[in-house]
Amino acid sequence: MKKIFITTLLLSGVLFAQSAQKIINENGCLACHAVASKKAAPAFAGIGKRNKRFEGSNAKVTIMNSIKNGSQGKYPMFANSAMPPFGNLSQKDLSILADYILAQSSKAQCKGRGLR
Ligand code: HEC
Repeated sequence: MKKIFITTLLLSGVLFAQSAQKIINENGCLACHAVASKKAAPAFAGIGKRNKRFEGSNAKVTIMNSIKNGSQGKYPMFANSAMPPFGNLSQKDLSILADYILAQSSKAQCKGRGLR
């Protein structure tokens, strides 16, 4: 019984990661973002960490809204560029993306004040 439970957990972890990956690929997020390093935009890991730290229990909603409506000026290093809005995404897709981004926070390279 325990084995089945653990297998299901592992399997759903894989499926979850795959569908986040699919949405990310289909929407070209990686043109600007990488998971653990800065590119033309902050790393997903750093975004997850920053929002956990500063938004607390609102972290998920904040991330969902930023993807849906776009964002500018939150990350000083990227003040000259902007996150375009992705109003085409469903609430479910936004939720999957936000969970995925928050789950990457342990991979953040920057710590403390330099966190972007
Ligand atoms: C054209 C480049 C570009 C693309 C494409 C892009 N982003 Fe961004 N993204 C940015 C920039 C620049 C920022 C920093 C915005 C700021 O400083 O407020 C950002 C910030 C973010 C944030 C942080 C918002 C916050 O409130 O902390 C999230 C989450 C995010 N992007 C997710 C995504 C996802 C998911 C996709 C694909 C659906 C995507 N981005 C596609 C450029 C991009």
